[in-house]
Amino acid sequence: MGNCLACGSTVETVLDFGKMPIANGFLHEEDFPDEFFHHLQICFCPDCSMVQIAEPVDPVMQYHENYAYFASTSSRMRTHFNAAAIQIRSLLKHRADPFIVEIGSNDGIMLQRFAKDGVRHLGVEPSQNVANEAVRNGVSTQCSFFDESTATEILRKHGPADAIYGANVVTHIPDIHSVMAAVEILLEDDGYFILEDPYLGDVLEKTAYDQFYDEHVFYFCLSSLQNLLGKHGMTIVDVEPQQVHGGSMRYFAMKKAKPSTYRLETLQRREKDLGLSQAATFRGLNDRISASKDQLVTILSNLNRERKRVVGYGATAKSSIVTNFCGIGPDLIEFISDTTPIKQNKFSPGTHIPVKPYDAFVEDYPDYAVLFAWNHCGEILAKEELFLKQGGRFITFVPDVRILEYPGSAND
Ligand code: TMP
Ligand code: ZN
Repeated sequence: MGNCLACGSTVETVLDFGKMPIANGFLHEEDFPDEFFHHLQICFCPDCSMVQIAEPVDPVMQYHENYAYFASTSSRMRTHFNAAAIQIRSLLKHRADPFIVEIGSNDGIMLQRFAKDGVRHLGVEPSQNVANEAVRNGVSTQCSFFDESTATEILRKHGPADAIYGANVVTHIPDIHSVMAAVEILLEDDGYFILEDPYLGDVLEKTAYDQFYDEHVFYFCLSSLQNLLGKHGMTIVDVEPQQVHGGSMRYFAMKKAKPSTYRLETLQRREKDLGLSQAATFRGLNDRISASKDQLVTILSNLNRERKRVVGYGATAKSSIVTNFCGIGPDLIEFISDTTPIKQNKFSPGTHIPVKPYDAFVEDYPDYAVLFAWNHCGEILAKEELFLKQGGRFITFVPDVRILEYPGSAND
């Protein structure tokens, strides 16, 4: 048994997914023999309630010049991060010359708003290719990991940050105390540290087991994050649930405590009801995950027997977990369609399903498409009216495995 990355106590293994590839490691055929696999196990810490990966993968294997995730590929995410920027701006509206720092700023999707408005900002992004894209978008970006030395350097050059924002990034960093210490260094005494990540409560309620993959080292909830931030002199002063990434939570922390909010108290109650501070809750998830796997494999095997054409929609990191855990290969899914150029004409990690440009989907509609990007369901269903109208159907597996009904268009 290992030790908790957040508090050092002995953790308990609650989920075991077996051998897994790097979830965003889309690869060429010549790289199949050297493909890297790791043992994906999820642990729970009985002392601080942190849910985490048992053995984090070396970040060098994950974030590099070929990093495959560009946040701006989704119009919904663009809208989401623009709204986040507006919210941060309004939190800081009384400050003379605010300075906003984003950890893992990706292609500049959030900071763009500040860049356009001439507000002081800096993105810190370790993957060179996405950082370059941010710079092309006019966003001040430095390519590095966010740690104490980076924070000290930023502080020296720009002064303290009024807000530090990190969306879908802090949960990716095994050396979590280094990030927290860096925030402590850089954050203004009355500044906001705003974190946003897929919410553990949603993972549990929706059996969204595809959120468990190598990049997600931690699975935060209010209680575990509060324990962690408390060690670094910060308190969560408010929370705001978000619809993106299948259910996320935005946490607002400060060095100064504030009176509790209604939203904070509501979330505390929800976490108590869900049992997020008990190992048994997560062990109980095992049965639901196994049932989900059996159902998905049954649907796909039946369609295969009926000689239906089935493709995947969205070569998400999440799809790598589902296909590997369920043993779904090119025999059951002809190809996965994705709009991200860097993933196209490669193969899915581990299961080696071809990844093709979106055109391949449109030019010859399949009978069924597995909605690997289920978290973008609304956006995709609206976009794929034609596919649905001519008889195509989406298969989803979160929260349940089923073929989505087509209610018909409003004009029918
Ligand atoms: P995400 O779930 O991590 O946001 O990744 C979404 C992936 O799905 C990304 O590779 C882009 C792809 N995608 C499409 O191919 N078509 C779409 O319409 C959307 C919304 C996403
Ligand atoms: Zn712990």
